[in-house]
Amino acid sequence: MDSIIVRGNGPLKGEIPIAGAKNACLTLMPATLLSEEPLTLTNAPRLSDIRTMTELLSSLGAEVSALQDGKVLAMSSHDLDNHVADYDIVRKMRASNLVLGPMLARLGQAVVSLPGGCAIGTRPMDLHEKGLMALGAEIELKEGYLHAKAPKGLKGTVIDLDFPSVGATENILMASTLAKGTTVINNAAREPEIVDLATCLRAMGAQIEGDGTSRIEVQGVDRLHGATHPVVTDRIELGTYMLAPAICGGEVECLGGRISLLGAFCEKLDEAGISVEETERGIKVARKNGRVKAVNVTTEPFPGFPTDLQAQMMALMCTAEGTSVLEEKIFENRFMHAPELMRMGAEIEVHGGTATVTGVERLKGAPVMATDLRASVSLILAAMAAEGETVVNRVYHLDRGYERVEEKLGNVGAHIERVKVT
Ligand code: UD1
Repeated sequence: MDSIIVRGNGPLKGEIPIAGAKNACLTLMPATLLSEEPLTLTNAPRLSDIRTMTELLSSLGAEVSALQDGKVLAMSSHDLDNHVADYDIVRKMRASNLVLGPMLARLGQAVVSLPGGCAIGTRPMDLHEKGLMALGAEIELKEGYLHAKAPKGLKGTVIDLDFPSVGATENILMASTLAKGTTVINNAAREPEIVDLATCLRAMGAQIEGDGTSRIEVQGVDRLHGATHPVVTDRIELGTYMLAPAICGGEVECLGGRISLLGAFCEKLDEAGISVEETERGIKVARKNGRVKAVNVTTEPFPGFPTDLQAQMMALMCTAEGTSVLEEKIFENRFMHAPELMRMGAEIEVHGGTATVTGVERLKGAPVMATDLRASVSLILAAMAAEGETVVNRVYHLDRGYERVEEKLGNVGAHIERVKVT
């Protein structure tokens, strides 16, 4: 298992190219199941989660070829010969549940393992189930698997989501493209990844309006055709690397970034005293003098502050001037990075969904443990500005969501290396 060793150092300078979005790609890939014709994704990120989705789609009979060093995914679901998403794959990655809606719509049946909880929370699938049942599916839980059937096909209806769940919106949206008549999803998630999915589905012939707002309307069509679609920029990778110069000082341009992907996050950086400027090529972030100011953050569905940047923002707040309060409203157990940051000298108190961080002048290197994907990268960011050496263990989480992290950060001056631990 690999570890990452970081030696704290001074200001960063340079450019970081931002990859296509993991979370968009993980919902665009199952969209291939909706059509007999090929779907090609460009600007795909090279990540282990994408390989897991490739494994899952292949197990269903789809063909997935990674071309151009993995940046292009050429997929075809002409001959699907299996409708069971096996527990052994689904347990590795929750986003596997995104095959449920498309398989049901295309084949009239799907059996998908319930993913189970994960480190950051229980993460049930009730909203996915309710939405698909409203479209006419019969769903039963048997031996840990959701057995979904729609022998007479799906039928459009009005679905009011109790919460704007990203995954539920994606599953229902994909299923409704092939349903009979009109589907309206109220209280839909508005994340850029939803807009990207709708854009791809439209390129495949779907009739969708309102994506990016909380009311999405879909007119079902008989079939979808092939398409080629570029994956949207990864706003979480973008936000993560924007925090690198904020924490270490210096100036970094994140290529391909747009402020519209991260409005609430950029406002918080501005409030903390970081300069954020949109350029022709991306977003330039600079911290020239002094410490950042403490700011309060509450995570919310888009367009609010993303939960997937909460851990990284906490790393910034650890050395800010003053006290900041971070409230986590999306997942019930998403502060596992706090005790690890405390091993590095951070002053953090956690009560339920609230963490209070009192900034210290400087963190100190320590051996720490990565507990989940975003927690891992928050430890790397914190270590980059800490005194001495930090060893981040269990970094396999990191490879699920960040391609070539040591190369990208090393190129702007960070002292970071990966070592094999036997
Ligand atoms: C997606 C992202 C994840 C991000 C999250 C919130 C992908 C692959 N993952 O996850 O990185 O952190 O959005 O922005 O895109 N919930 C229910 N019942 C459901 C579905 C969700 O109670 O049926 C709850 C969850 O437990 C969680 C909250 O709703 O507390 C948000 O979940 P959701 O928006 O569905 O997140 P994911 O799609 O799983």
